[in-house]
Amino acid sequence: MSEPDERLMSASADGSEEQVIEAALRPKKLDDFIGQERVREQLSLVLHSAMRRGRTPDHVLLSGGPGLGKTTLAMIIAAELGQPLRISSGPAIERAGDLAAVLSTLSEGEVLFLDEIHRLARPAEEMLYMAMEDFRVDVVVGKGPGATAIPLDIAPFTLVGATTRAGMLPGPLRDRFGFVAHMDFYDPAELEVIVRRSARLLEVEISDAASAEVAGRSRGTPRIANRLLRRVRDYAEVRSDGTVSEDLAKAALHLYEVDERGLDRLDRAVLESLMRKFGGGPVGLSTLAVSVGEEPETVEVVAEPFLVRQGLLARTPRGRIATPAAWAHLGLTPPPGAPMAGTLFEVGDDPGQGE
Ligand SMILES: Nc1ncnc2c1ncn2[C@@H]1O[C@H](COP(=O)(O)OP(=O)(O)OP(=O)(O)O)[C@@H](O)[C@H]1O
Ligand SMILES: [Mg+2]
Repeated sequence: MSEPDERLMSASADGSEEQVIEAALRPKKLDDFIGQERVREQLSLVLHSAMRRGRTPDHVLLSGGPGLGKTTLAMIIAAELGQPLRISSGPAIERAGDLAAVLSTLSEGEVLFLDEIHRLARPAEEMLYMAMEDFRVDVVVGKGPGATAIPLDIAPFTLVGATTRAGMLPGPLRDRFGFVAHMDFYDPAELEVIVRRSARLLEVEISDAASAEVAGRSRGTPRIANRLLRRVRDYAEVRSDGTVSEDLAKAALHLYEVDERGLDRLDRAVLESLMRKFGGGPVGLSTLAVSVGEEPETVEVVAEPFLVRQGLLARTPRGRIATPAAWAHLGLTPPPGAPMAGTLFEVGDDPGQGE
C-alpha cells in the first residue's frame, strides 16, 4: 500500500519544475500563511487548544478550489503540532485494506492527510467513519459466510481531509470532521503580498506595480499567482535584464493570453462556446464541457467558480448562462433571445452540481 503514498510524497523531490518550485514557495508556518484570515484564526485555536490539553485535535476538513492552499495548510497543521505527516489520497486508496494498512501504522498524534477525500471508495469510507470516531477499525478476513471482522485499535491521529468538491462528500463523513475550513478566493491585496513574497524567494526583482498587475490577473488563486510570476520572470530574463516592470508584466501576460480580468484560455473558451454555440445558454454542464473538449469536472471545478464569482456566468436550474457582463467582456453582441437580455433567471441562484 505504501507505494502510492511514496509517489505522492516524492512528487516534490523528483517532480516537474512547477512541483519543485511550488514546494519551495509553500509557507511552513501558520504565521507565514497569507490571507484566509478567518480560517487561520479558527484553525490556530483548534490546534493550540488541543495542544494545551495534550490531546490530538479534531479532524479537519479543508474545502476549496484548486490552488487555494489546502495541501499547504495540511503541511502547516502537522508542522504546528510538531507531528509527522502521512500523505495519501482518495483515489490512491482502492480498497478498505489499503486504508487499514495506512491507519494501523500511524503513530500516536500523527497527522494523516487524505487529499481528494471525496473520491474515496465506499468501503474505505465506511472504515474511515469508525477510525475517525473510535480510533478503531474492523479488518475483514476471509470472504463469504466464513468472513470474520477482527477489531483493531489504532493510535489517536488527526485526519486532515481536502476536497475541491465539498458538495460531493457524504453527510456522515462530513459530520465527523470537528472543524471544516472553507477556503475562498484571495483578494488582490493578499495575492500581491504572495507575489512579493514569492519574488523574494525566487530572487526576482519586481516593481510594486508589476506585483499588483500579476496579482490582479491571478484568478484569486495563489498557485496561479506563483505561476504567472514565473512566466513573467522568464519573459524578463529573455527579453530584458531580468527586472520586472509594470509594462513588462503586461506584455508578458498578454503573450501568455491572460487577460486583464485574469481569464485564461479555458475560461474564455467556456464563455465563447456558451455564447457562440448556445446563444448564451441555458446549456447543461456536460454539453458545455464537451463543446470545449474538457471533462465536466474540470469546467465545474476549475473554470466556473471564478466565472460565477466574476459575474460572467450564472448557474441556473436549467443550465449555465452567460451574463450581460460576459457578452461585454468578450465584445460580442447577444442575440435578442439571449438569457438575461431581460433577466430571465435569477443570478446567484446556484444549484451547485445541478445541470
Ligand atoms: N496562503 C498562502 N500564502 C502563500 N502561498 C500560498 C498560500 N496558499 C497557497 N500558496 C501557494 O500556492 C501553491 C498551491 O497551494 P496548494 O498546493 O496548497 O493548493 P491546493 O489547495 O492543495 O490545490 P489542489 O486542490 O490543486 O491540490 C503552493 O505552492 C503555495 O506556495
Ligand atoms: Mg493540494
